[in-house]
This record gives sequence, structure tokens and C-alpha cells, in this order.
Amino acid sequence: LREHEEFTKVKNIAKIELGRYEIDTWYFSPFPPEYNDCPKLFFCEFCLNFMKRKEQLQRHMKKCDLKHPPGDEIYRSGTLSMFEVDGKKNKVYGQNLCYLAKLFLDHKTLYYDVDLFLFYVLCECDDRGCHMVGYFSKEKHSEESYNLACILTLPPYQRKGYGKFLIAFSYELSKKEGKVGTPERPLSDLGLLSYRGYWTRVLLEILKKHKGNISIKELSDMTAIKADDILSTLQSLDLIQYRKGQHVICADPKVLDRHLKAAGRGGLDVDVIKLIWTPYK
Ligand code: ACO
Ligand code: ZN
Repeated sequence: LREHEEFTKVKNIAKIELGRYEIDTWYFSPFPPEYNDCPKLFFCEFCLNFMKRKEQLQRHMKKCDLKHPPGDEIYRSGTLSMFEVDGKKNKVYGQNLCYLAKLFLDHKTLYYDVDLFLFYVLCECDDRGCHMVGYFSKEKHSEESYNLACILTLPPYQRKGYGKFLIAFSYELSKKEGKVGTPERPLSDLGLLSYRGYWTRVLLEILKKHKGNISIKELSDMTAIKADDILSTLQSLDLIQYRKGQHVICADPKVLDRHLKAAGRGGLDVDVIKLIWTPYK
């Protein structure tokens, strides 16, 4: 399917069941045609296989032996875990995740070529297993220095700081790679709000500490945020002046504090010591 066709398609699946949640969907997703007459789909919350009927899911749950996403656990902090799933080694899981995610993503083309992606799946874990909260995907090799392709927090878990956690995580991976990164465009409204919030908080905290004596290049080296994104964030906060052919960053502590307050909650932090990961080769 071309992007344009996806846009114009009417929504097919109205609801899904996933773990203990029933969730209303937001957008069209190109499930195989045999699912098109289906108002509700039943997902196995662990392998993400989907079925038309509750009884099929119940039968499936008796024999499905997964209790977490099919990949390596690369981060654990309290009950939160992050799993890295290689789309090449787990093609069906990758495809299922894309079908599921598209239900909540509007202007994104769905990639069937899941081979080329890694999926970072965030879970809340308890004695029944690791329950998916959200995820982001990342190209194994990006020409455009993208460090994130698609990001999703499942609706029952939204507005609790998981989105900012996932964004922070994507930059921690970039730091370990020694590269700067940027999210794939276009961003949705909610995506832009979340990124703007993350960039603002991270940059203002550094500016406060360094009392402004720092360049955009240095900010970029410290945070793995691409220079363009730093510039646009600081410009949107009206913190950049152009003097004698150079960008000058305003660092009036009062102004910075005012912006920091407005930037909202910090949310869940990534504890980098708990990230056990080496870059994909
Ligand atoms: N209304 C207003 N502001 C919002 C809302 C909302 N419904 N949701 C998030 N925000 C803003 C807020 O500023 C919020 O910070 P605050 O709570 O401190 O005020 C900030 O975004 C981030 O909130 P989180 O709780 O950390 O983020 P969440 O877990 O809700 O996830 C996400 C954000 C991933 C964008 C989620 O809304 C989502 O999955 N949306 C659907 C899919 C999507 O649009 N993804 C991005 C596409 S772009 C891309 O993939 C590159
Ligand atoms: Zn299953």
C-alpha cells in the first residue's frame, strides 16, 4: 500500500483486545483482507498474533509459551523492562507489531520490510509476564541519522511519562553508538509535543548548569540530539539571537527557569547504568 492510499482508507478494525485492555482504535491499518469484516480483533499480548474470535485467543493462550517479547532484555529497572527484538529473527512478531501500531499512527507508511528494523518494546512486568506498554522502532542502518522510526505508547498507558522514557531511551542508544540522532519525519502532533518537551527539558537543564557558556555543537555532543533540533527548540523558546554572524544562546537563569516550569513533568528517567547493550553491527 502507498501512503496516500492508507490515508484515504476508512477505519476497519474498531476495537482490539490486548492483555487486560479493550482499546478503541484510531486509524486504518492494512490487516490481511480476511480480517476486514472484523470490528474487533483479539491479540495475544506476548507474541502479538491476532485472531477474530475470543475462543480462538483463549485456545491460543493455553499453548503460547511466550511471556515477554521474543528478544533480549536490555534494560530492567523495578518492574520496567525493555526488550530488543530483531525484525529479521522475529519477522512475524515485527509484522504483527506494525499492524498493531498502525491502528494508532496516521501519517506513517507501514514497513513490511521488518528485517531492516530493531524493535524496542517497553514492558511492565509482574508474575503473569511482561505486558507491553509501548515501543519504538529503529532502522539498523540509517543514512539520514534517524535514531527512531515509529514510537507508540498504547492508549491505556498514555500521559504517564512512558513516551518521554522511550524518547530518552532512543537517545541513550545513540550516545552508546557515538552518533547524533533524530526521529524520522513527519512527526504526529502528539509526537512533536512529546519531542519538544523532551528536547526542552534536556537542553535547558544543561544551559542552566553551564550558565550558557556552551555552543550548539557541544550541546549536540552531550545529548546526541541533532543540531537542527537543538536550534529549532531554542528558537521556539526565543532563546537564540543572531549576533555578528553567530548564534548566541540566552542563558538568563530566570528565563530558563520559567521555560523549565512550563515544560511540564520530567517523567520516568532512563537509568543508564541499567542499560546493557552494544550497538548493532
Ligand atoms: N494532549 C496534550 N499533550 C500531550 C498529550 C495529549 N493527549 N499526550 C502527550 N502530550 C504531551 C505532553 O506535553 C506530555 O508531557 P506532560 O504529560 O508532562 O505534559 C508529553 O507529550 C509526553 O507525554 P508522555 O506521557 O511521556 O507520552 P505518552 O506516553 O503519552 O506518549 C506518544 C507520547 C508516543 C506520542 C503517544 O501520544 C502516542 O503513542 N501517540 C500515537 C502515536 C503517535 O502519534 N506517535 C508519534 C508519531 S511520530 C513518529 O513516530 C516519529
Ligand atoms: Zn501468543
